[in-house]
Amino acid sequence: MKAVVHDVYGPPEVLRVEETDRPVPGEGEVLVQVHAAGVDPGVWHLTAGLPYLIRAAGFGLRAPKHRIRGLDVSGRVETVGPGVTRFQPGDEVYGIAAGSFAEYACAKADKLAHRPANLTHAQSAAVPISGATALQALRDAGGLKPGQTVLVIGAAGGVGSFAVQIAKALGAHVTAVCSTGKADLVRALGADEVIDYTRTDFTDGTHRHDLVLDIAGNRPLSLLRRTLTPGGTLVIIGGENGGNWIGGNDRQLRALLLSPFLRQRLRGLMAKEHHAYLDVLTGLIEAGSVTPAVERTYPLTEVPDAINRLMAGQVRGKLVIEVR
Ligand SMILES: NC(=O)c1ccc[n+]([C@@H]2O[C@H](COP(=O)([O-])OP(=O)(O)OC[C@H]3O[C@@H](n4cnc5c(N)ncnc54)[C@H](OP(=O)(O)O)[C@@H]3O)[C@@H](O)[C@H]2O)c1
Repeated sequence: MKAVVHDVYGPPEVLRVEETDRPVPGEGEVLVQVHAAGVDPGVWHLTAGLPYLIRAAGFGLRAPKHRIRGLDVSGRVETVGPGVTRFQPGDEVYGIAAGSFAEYACAKADKLAHRPANLTHAQSAAVPISGATALQALRDAGGLKPGQTVLVIGAAGGVGSFAVQIAKALGAHVTAVCSTGKADLVRALGADEVIDYTRTDFTDGTHRHDLVLDIAGNRPLSLLRRTLTPGGTLVIIGGENGGNWIGGNDRQLRALLLSPFLRQRLRGLMAKEHHAYLDVLTGLIEAGSVTPAVERTYPLTEVPDAINRLMAGQVRGKLVIEVR
């Protein structure tokens, strides 16, 4: 099969398409014929081996342990491994399969769900990581209740474009923060208010919110706290340019240490990968409350271009690799 592989950590250009063996599903795994695979910053981190923390976390200290990149997947079940009862060959699925930039990929059955009936494969592949992260941030870490006000920082990106729509579906009043050229997108996604962070300082304390999702920008906790009501909750999800060693995760650690001494709740999020989140997202998507914002698709041969465009901050919503 064709797959996008690399043998060294580096920029997206280290990735190339190569003929490799089709993987064989083990206990509890499913072999998926890949139709489309989403692109998200996690793919860049694993390609670059940055921050170094992820190398120490088991992905390979000097070189990638697993050669095939890709995480989000949408496709059709080819075969199932021993012990898998939720799926059978022919099922249309989506979820997370390490190595999804390939014609076939193995996924843990727990990380797959039947895909929404009203989406294309390209749209389905945009959902798993970004959608599940947004859902967990709002509902589980954020404890969002109908009628509350939510500020989404990084609203026009992968996680943010889902967060705006899910927060609206959960009954919140949503203020979306993005750059000038993406204001129309976040408005179309349903944001009640839009702030262009290149023109307006939304951390000056003028407007405060019950829940703030910090998806991008790596702003200091002291500034983020000024966007919160006295009893509000901050959920730190991510942000690039946080340094090569720990990639900005120090803010999450400081939030954890500081929060017990405050009325405001400061939390970091490490999103879990499980089909339970996908099942909720499928419901929201099939009800018409959430629609993935796919800017464009790329073929397997252009994975480096897609990753470069994403990491340059140019993407409106999501990019997807179409495999067949
Ligand atoms: N904690 C977890 O479990 C988890 C899970 C998934 C992703 N993440 C992390 O979350 C982050 C976002 O992921 P993503 O998929 O949403 O990435 P993405 O698609 O690249 O979106 C990031 C967005 O942030 C905006 N942005 C950049 N600089 C900004 C700034 N200074 N202020 C406000 N907005 C800014 C960008 O557009 P504009 O600047 O043009 O508006 C872009 O729309 C990444 O760091 C990723 O690694 C964490």
